[in-house]
Amino acid sequence: MKLTVSPAPLAEQKKDAVIIFYQGKNALLPSDNAALKKLADERIKTSAFKGEAGQVALFPATGDIAAKQIIVAGLGEQKHFYNGLLEQAAAAAVKAGTAAGLKSFAVASAIEFDEIEEADYQLLVGRGAAWGTYSFNTYKSETKKTAEASLVFSGTVTDRSVINAAESQGIALLNTADLANLPGNDAPPEKIAEWAKAMAKENGLSCQIFGKTQLEKKGCGGILSVAQGSAQDARMIILKHAGKNKSAQPIVLVGKTITFDSGGISLKPGKGMGWMKYDKCGGMAVLAAMQMIAKMDVDVPVIGILGAAENMPGSQATRPGDIIKSYGGKTVEVLNTDAEGRLVLMDALAIAAEMKPRAIIDLATLTGAVIVALGSSAAAILGNNQNLVNELIDSGLDAGERLWPLPIFKDFTDDMKSDFADLSNLSKSGGAGTATAAAFLQEFVPENIPWAHIDIAGTAWLESAKPHQAPGATLFGARTLTQWIAQQD
Ligand code: BES
Ligand code: MN
Ligand code: ZN
Repeated sequence: MKLTVSPAPLAEQKKDAVIIFYQGKNALLPSDNAALKKLADERIKTSAFKGEAGQVALFPATGDIAAKQIIVAGLGEQKHFYNGLLEQAAAAAVKAGTAAGLKSFAVASAIEFDEIEEADYQLLVGRGAAWGTYSFNTYKSETKKTAEASLVFSGTVTDRSVINAAESQGIALLNTADLANLPGNDAPPEKIAEWAKAMAKENGLSCQIFGKTQLEKKGCGGILSVAQGSAQDARMIILKHAGKNKSAQPIVLVGKTITFDSGGISLKPGKGMGWMKYDKCGGMAVLAAMQMIAKMDVDVPVIGILGAAENMPGSQATRPGDIIKSYGGKTVEVLNTDAEGRLVLMDALAIAAEMKPRAIIDLATLTGAVIVALGSSAAAILGNNQNLVNELIDSGLDAGERLWPLPIFKDFTDDMKSDFADLSNLSKSGGAGTATAAAFLQEFVPENIPWAHIDIAGTAWLESAKPHQAPGATLFGARTLTQWIAQQD
């Protein structure tokens, strides 16, 4: 999506459509748009449009308005607003517009809306508009191309860099979505590694890939034990953005990248198992974030680590009861081979900790329990440092992604002890699934390194179509990570 700026008023923008956000029946437009507001208000009066979150409608424009159409998009009531709804409204407007054959859009460069700052507004609208053009067409015989569209921000813009960032973030999200939406047969760890390598080259990141032999040499018993039931070998992928402050301690982002999770010998039930192609989405969010960070040329060094493996029940597969050794030496009794994400992450986190980072943040579709707790409305965040957790929650609110905290009590750590090894990958109690998983991960991060874990199992994938997106990967987490990292120095 091409994003531009034009000082001419919205009513004079000769585009296919002008987009207007509504909070209920209230048009959010700068005050010098009286004619446009009058026309739009007239149009919605006789329609079903109520300005609810997710609602969009298209109307013909006439009279003094240069654009052909008016697209109205709802944000819902003020008391339920969060930034994600604005990004989704922009996406829904463009999605509805492109579906109707429209290609060029105009929107106000700022709106009268207490809830949001101008720069955040521009970032969310620009990035949302780009997301609204996306569709996953890789396997459709009738080739539908992602719509070539443009959006102009009408009015004064003091800082163009925000709109540039929105444009480059849109590009990163769209190209990563094409990888994230691939099924397991076409996205084995090897393919993810190749994709990461090409992306790194294009964006000036360095890229290091460990295959099976190197992982054996390093003693990464976790990721290897997950991969050993599969014909596809594991890869550990390490991307690095050097940043201008080369001597500064890096931030490390870690992503669970299970290219398909069958459960292994602890096989999952058949119903809905196809969804488990999405189990790579932690890694996908890290890839998207790394690309955004590279394009924005962030000052701080940032390292992205993807633990990529396929969890299958082949004859070499890990058996329940097997005891394995993680990178760094801790032993783990694998009581359930479906709790594989933590096994991949324990190696990746231990490697991350060796990089003397200022912080480690991991993203993972780790537990079904987080869906019980929060559904698809927020991701859970846990960690060993309240300050980091709070900062990420705040960045999430700015970036339109909701994170909700859960505790890591010592009880949960105790619950992950094994009778026969240092740790078990399954809690004894069976309760607090999301937090006991995090307690397990915490054992692989030294206490003095700030670490946060974000469980995106409920938010990484849209199961049924919404006005702002077709079913598939959301890349949840990428926006928050980028937002937070852009604020570090
Ligand atoms: N990838 C899954 C998490 C998951 C489960 C996401 C269901 C969406 C729906 C993860 O590897 C997993 O299987 N976790 C188990 C852990 C359990 C065996 C301790 C779970 O949550 O059921
Ligand atoms: Mn699993
Ligand atoms: Zn999994």
